[in-house]
Amino acid sequence: MSQQFDVIVIGGGPGGYEAAIRAAQLGFATACIDDWTRPDGKPAPGGTCTNVGCIPSKALLQSSENFEEAGHAFAEHGIGVTGLSMDVAKMLARKARVVAQNNDGILYLFKKNKIAFFHGFGSFAGKDSDRWKVSVAGKAPAEIAGTHVIIATGSKPRALPNVPIDNVRVLDNDGALSMNAVPKRLGVVGAGVIGLEMGSVWRRLGAEVTMLEALPAFLQAVDTTIAKEAQKLFAKQGLAIQTGVAIGKVDVGSKDVTVTYTTSDGKEVKATYDHLIVSIGRVPFSEGLKGDTVGLVLDERGFIEVDGECRTNLANVWAIGDVVRGPMLAHKAEEEGVAVAERIAGQKPHLDFNTIPWVIYTSPEIAWVGKTEQQLKADGVDYRAGQFPFIANGRARAMGDTRGLVKMLADRKTDAILGVHIIGPMASELISEAVVAMEFGASSEDIARITHAHPTLSEAMREAALAVDGRTLNL
Ligand code: FAD
Ligand code: NAI
Repeated sequence: MSQQFDVIVIGGGPGGYEAAIRAAQLGFATACIDDWTRPDGKPAPGGTCTNVGCIPSKALLQSSENFEEAGHAFAEHGIGVTGLSMDVAKMLARKARVVAQNNDGILYLFKKNKIAFFHGFGSFAGKDSDRWKVSVAGKAPAEIAGTHVIIATGSKPRALPNVPIDNVRVLDNDGALSMNAVPKRLGVVGAGVIGLEMGSVWRRLGAEVTMLEALPAFLQAVDTTIAKEAQKLFAKQGLAIQTGVAIGKVDVGSKDVTVTYTTSDGKEVKATYDHLIVSIGRVPFSEGLKGDTVGLVLDERGFIEVDGECRTNLANVWAIGDVVRGPMLAHKAEEEGVAVAERIAGQKPHLDFNTIPWVIYTSPEIAWVGKTEQQLKADGVDYRAGQFPFIANGRARAMGDTRGLVKMLADRKTDAILGVHIIGPMASELISEAVVAMEFGASSEDIARITHAHPTLSEAMREAALAVDGRTLNL
């Protein structure tokens, strides 16, 4: 007889492994199946995020930022550096160690929570009375059955039509994180989150980076004030960003890639790069799951169709994370995973998409939560805006990083905070205050009246809140 579980989670990325932990905490007999494999054949749970996403990208962003700081910023502090060099192999080895620590951490958590981990590929194999049968293909094939199934199979990179990703010349995120030498000329198609983060890494290490973006405006989804500031700052750093381009022919040679594209003013340009990163978004991944054999419904874009609570059309089958609608973010996947486990236990968790923060880990960082000013205008909302630049913040001056600003948007009548947008040092950490404030229904006045330690970057948040009412103290 097959092993029986209350909950089977297919996919061990941030959505899946956290769903499994929460289900186990709630007392369910839980299994998690994941197929990601290390070069030595061992399991590598953690999904895209841990293996080729959030974690390795932040490791390389940190290494390359340290390098750039040592080369450019240290001198101002009186620190002289001679003979500065970059050992790319060492940097990649460190990244691999960081990833492995995270893989091992998740395996430890599975053990600690008594979750049965299956290293292999899961697919639906029918139903046995009220239990779903799932087969696991891999080194140790298995047939298991569970009352509930949570699908957390994630996403994969979108490729340009007729330009296969070979991860030699044409790279997706995996290839962009693994180049073993700094390219001289790096092309990036898509100036979105991956393009900007990966473009920053290799530019800091010495590559000449050109980013080709289809949309006419840079970072269209970001608040316009922040996007404009970012475009100015990135151009100053040497990231060449061209918007409004149409990619034509892509010729992949043995040593380089030639891209023919049309610029926004209709000129045809031929450019040759050593490597081309393609970062034009990601698509849901549910191949091989055999969902069709049990009648699982996908939408027209290939996402597994779910309701607001992550229920699919099949009884007791749930889906979370990148494989369903909503932002493709690790923390969104995690929250959905936890919420589904709690729903299975009869609890009533709630996830508000409007308070999910976004971060782009460039330098300076960009972070936001809630509505942008252009969204409020489009929705006809009456609001007040306040902003405060880091140049007027004492801590930023002491740190030597005064780039950027905090912008707060609040409802004109109720003063409820509707959105907070930051570009500046440690924006990724600063945004949490705004998330908490919005979750608790705070007003800009609330933030303005809360004591913020001095000198901290967070004082810029308080000043932006004061600015909503036209009464900044330090500007
Ligand atoms: P995934 O992490 O994709 O995990 C799915 C797992 O399921 C994988 O291990 C896959 O191999 C496995 N799987 C699939 N099908 C099966 C099957 N049938 N059987 C068994 N296993 C299966 N998000 C952030 O919030 N912050 C960031 O800084 C950030 N940086 C990123 C940087 C890059 C370069 C990329 C590409 C993404 C980044 N993201 C970031 C997005 C983030 O990685 C995803 O949103 C997140 O990983 C989604 O989690 P998930 O659990 O839904 O799926
Ligand atoms: P993205 O959606 O952020 O950016 C893709 C960009 O490519 C867009 O600006 C789009 O207009 C452009 N584009 C699309 N087709 C194009 C074409 N044919 N030619 C030129 N440009 C084109 O997607 P990206 O960067 O691939 O990342 C995928 C997802 O991964 C993100 O949306 C995000 O959810 C997640 N991610 C999150 C990170 C974070 O939280 N810091 C970091 C990296 C990825």
